[in-house]
Amino acid sequence: MELRGKRVLITGASRGIGESFAHAFAGAGAAVALVARTEDSIRVLAEKLGGTAHPADLSDPKQVDALISHVEDEAGPVDVLVNNAGIGAPAAFIDAPDNDLRRVTEVNYLAAAELCRQAIPRMLRRGGGHIVNISSIAGCGAM
Ligand SMILES: NC(=O)c1ccc[n+]([C@@H]2O[C@H](COP(=O)([O-])OP(=O)(O)OC[C@H]3O[C@@H](n4cnc5c(N)ncnc54)[C@H](OP(=O)(O)O)[C@@H]3O)[C@@H](O)[C@H]2O)c1
Repeated sequence: MELRGKRVLITGASRGIGESFAHAFAGAGAAVALVARTEDSIRVLAEKLGGTAHPADLSDPKQVDALISHVEDEAGPVDVLVNNAGIGAPAAFIDAPDNDLRRVTEVNYLAAAELCRQAIPRMLRRGGGHIVNISSIAGCGAM
């Protein structure tokens, strides 16, 4: 994939794998659009990499709603969406409090699916795009 001149939206870009993705994509010539809750971290990283920062809490459907459109209004068309943000379940399934199950589902599945739903029609109108969904082998095990 030619990344030079492309814009890559990375969720969960404030640290960990998402931060590394941001360095790698920027190093390959892409403009990065960074999403996470920790505004300071993504602003500092965006400044360093010549990208843009878009703070959002992906566990809040209201903040996920129209997120792609907000990013595109602020930064320009998104060519590649990397759904990287993810959280672990803090307790065994049967012990997890109701809110934890909701938060894990919102961040790990619903936000990623909703961002795909928002991005795909825009990519199709522009003739193409790429989506990378990061998962974990931990999701395949019984806890
Ligand atoms: N590390 C591993 O060994 C491993 C293995 C397999 C798969 N993975 C997958 O790789 C992805 C990244 O893992 P990681 O280890 O880099 O995780 P991490 O270091 O814990 O980072 C998680 C990222 O997601 C963001 N995030 C968490 N909750 C969020 C929310 N409600 N709204 C917006 N952003 C949120 C965090 O930013 P804020 O806290 O600033 O919001 C952070 O940038 C995850 O999907 C994980 O399942 C990781």
